[in-house]
Amino acid sequence: MNVCITGANRGLGLALTRAFLEQGHQVFATYRQNSKALLDIEQQWKQLILVPCDITDEAQIHKAELMLKNQAGALDILVHNAAVLLERDSPDIEALDFSVYLPTLQTNAVAPLMVTKHLLPLLRHGSGKTIVAISSEAGSIGSCWRDRAYSYCMSKAALNMGMRILHNRLAPEGFRLRLIHPGWVQTDMGGSNAELTPMAAAQDVYERIMETCGAPSVSPEELYIDWKGQFLQW
Ligand SMILES: NC(=O)c1ccc[n+]([C@@H]2O[C@H](COP(=O)([O-])OP(=O)(O)OC[C@H]3O[C@@H](n4cnc5c(N)ncnc54)[C@H](OP(=O)(O)O)[C@@H]3O)[C@@H](O)[C@H]2O)c1
Repeated sequence: MNVCITGANRGLGLALTRAFLEQGHQVFATYRQNSKALLDIEQQWKQLILVPCDITDEAQIHKAELMLKNQAGALDILVHNAAVLLERDSPDIEALDFSVYLPTLQTNAVAPLMVTKHLLPLLRHGSGKTIVAISSEAGSIGSCWRDRAYSYCMSKAALNMGMRILHNRLAPEGFRLRLIHPGWVQTDMGGSNAELTPMAAAQDVYERIMETCGAPSVSPEELYIDWKGQFLQW
């Protein structure tokens, strides 16, 4: 399968890139800034193609689209992984700094739609017809327990809505969509106290993605799941 993963230079995106390569897939790994780790695996795997792309910049997405079109002509699986957590210390309501809000919404919720818009023609040519967004339990409104961390949670709830609408639009064409919460993962975003190593999380997320790709269809109730396949509340 031809797979495109955004934000592949570190964290879960890098581990997912490895997981797909180890199973013999062709991976188009997009990055905003390259990393030694990604360059190292490029040396190891000829099925890895690195694609520069800041997902908030539509001109860069268009360049990435052309590169994928020339190199592959079709895409089977698109994984929206790149995201930001800019409100690091989760200030209480009185201390919110709104300068991070629009960049958070732009990267986490709007950019995946922009990337989908540009890669959809290639996905329509592929046989996999699978679009996955790495979401978070933090985007669940029904099971929200936090009393802060507004911007990240709001951005993941908005991502969920965008993917839900895309599901309505694309399922009739045979597309399968999924929103996957990867668990609490030891990355720059998750921190070192997190429960899962990036490779352990990526292995489970890989399995959920391949199940999605192999499913005849995905119903709206099955769209939002965690890394073990448990359904999450919207
Ligand atoms: N870690 C967790 O516990 C956890 C829990 C739930 C959900 N998630 C989700 O899992 C996914 C991966 O997170 P992670 O933990 O691996 O985070 P991370 O270590 O902070 O990595 C984030 C990745 O996103 C990329 N990125 C951010 N903005 C970008 C942009 N404008 N264009 C291109 N790439 C961009 C980063 O690239 P740069 O190096 O260029 O910044 C980096 O590769 C995210 O969607 C996150 O919300 C993580």
